Amino acid sequence: MSKQFDVIVIGGGPGGYIAAIRAAQLGFNVACIDEWKNAKGGPALGGTCTNTGCIPSKALLQSSEHYDHAAHHFADHGIEVKGLGLDVAKMLARKDTVVKQNNDGIVYLFKKNKVTFFHGRGSFVAAKDGFYDIQVAASTSSGQAGAAEETLSGKHVVVATGSNARALPGAPFDEEVILSNDGALRIGAVPKKLGLIGSGVIGLEMGSVWRRLGAEVTILEGLPTFLGAVDQQIAKEAHKAFVKQGLKIELGVKVGEIKSGKKGVSVAWTNAKGEAQTLDVDKLIVSIGRTANTIGLAPETVGLKLDERGAIVVDEECKTNLPNVWAVGDVVRGPMLAHKAEEEGVAVAERIAGQHGHVNFNTIPWVIYTNPEIAWVGQTEEQLKAAGRAYKAGTFPFMANGRARALGDTTGMVKMLADAASDEILGVHIVGPFASELIAECVVAMEFRASAEDIARICHAHPSLSEATKEAALAVDKRTLNF
Ligand code: FAD
Ligand code: NAI
Repeated sequence: MSKQFDVIVIGGGPGGYIAAIRAAQLGFNVACIDEWKNAKGGPALGGTCTNTGCIPSKALLQSSEHYDHAAHHFADHGIEVKGLGLDVAKMLARKDTVVKQNNDGIVYLFKKNKVTFFHGRGSFVAAKDGFYDIQVAASTSSGQAGAAEETLSGKHVVVATGSNARALPGAPFDEEVILSNDGALRIGAVPKKLGLIGSGVIGLEMGSVWRRLGAEVTILEGLPTFLGAVDQQIAKEAHKAFVKQGLKIELGVKVGEIKSGKKGVSVAWTNAKGEAQTLDVDKLIVSIGRTANTIGLAPETVGLKLDERGAIVVDEECKTNLPNVWAVGDVVRGPMLAHKAEEEGVAVAERIAGQHGHVNFNTIPWVIYTNPEIAWVGQTEEQLKAAGRAYKAGTFPFMANGRARALGDTTGMVKMLADAASDEILGVHIVGPFASELIAECVVAMEFRASAEDIARICHAHPSLSEATKEAALAVDKRTLNF
């Protein structure tokens, strides 16, 4: 007889594991199935985010930033460093330890909240009598799903199977020289020349890591505009900083044939003027976006509807076309962000409990963890113009902020956009130090539908970077105090 659960969650990434915990907190009997394996074949909860995404990339960004500071910026503070060395193996091992701490943390949380964990691949088998049968196939050491281990039966199913890196046609990932985000996070020695296709979030973050460690980095971007989704005043400021640091970014390119061998990769490409070029590199990271993952889920067995891109079709409440089957995170529409997946996971668990879970898509923050960091929430100036909305803009440069000067990091600005009539904050865009932390205040402000004047009248600690946010709010009314 199959084991019965109120809620079965398929996928243990940020969407899935958070949905499982919240459902358990609400009193349900919950199972979570996840197939990710660590190097020893054991479970590694946390999905892409923990294993090959947010966490390891931030660990390497931190390590490489320390190295960059020691090599180039300590001297400004009167600190002399002699014989600076780099142990890439140790850096990678530290990153793996950080990942493991996060994997183990979720195991602990599952125990604490009494979520039953199954390691293996979950697939739909049948729907009968108001329950869904889900087969759990054990993960084998070869990486293939093995023989069926057991079948679970669930009243509700939450699918949170995430996404996979998209490869370029004719250039599959070998993770030796043509790398996805996975291989990009475990390059064993600093490549002399590194190429990246796509100057999106991964391209800029991973390009920054390996540039700081000494690689000559070239990024080939298909679009003519740099960071097209970002407020263009902010994107231009960031572009200037990246180019100054030594990142070569080619916009408006067309990537042609890619030839790879043991020693490296040769990329034929055409520049924005239509001139034929070749890029020869030791390693190539392909970061051109990700696709929803339903491999092994067998959605067809129960008639679960996918769209033309392979994402599970859901409504605004994450309901699929099947009763009591829900889907969250990267496998559905919307931004592919860990915190978006988590918010959806919580909201779905609460809806299953008859509550009114809610996700506000207008206030989901974005952060790119480069140096300078780029963070934003709400609408860009370009979007407001396109919508014909009357707005006021205020900017404040970190150059005029005392804490930024003390940090020795005065690149960038805070930009606030507010409705011309009501003064309600419509968007905040930051490029500069700790933008990732500064944006939180702006998200709160927008959730409470604050006006720019509200922020301008709040006492901010001195000296702090957050004063730049207050000053940007003052700038909306053309009355900055320190600029
Ligand atoms: P995932 O995290 O992909 O988890 C899905 C899980 O389901 C996986 O463990 C998978 O093995 C498992 N699974 C799939 N199919 C099955 C099955 N049939 N049975 C059992 N298990 C299955 N986002 C941010 O917000 N901030 C960042 O800084 C950030 N950095 C990133 C850096 C990189 C390099 C990458 C690649 C992504 C980054 N992201 C970041 C995006 C973030 O990782 C994803 O948005 C997030 O992981 C999505 O969560 P999820 O739960 O939907 O899916
Ligand atoms: P992306 O969508 O951010 O960027 C892809 C880039 O590749 C785009 O600029 C696109 O124009 C370009 N591109 C697409 N096809 C191309 C081609 N054939 N030739 C040249 N350029 C091409 O995707 P990326 O960087 O792969 O990251 C995937 C997702 O992972 C992100 O969108 C984000 O949701 C998530 N992520 C989030 C992070 C964060 O929050 N800090 C960090 C890393 C990833």
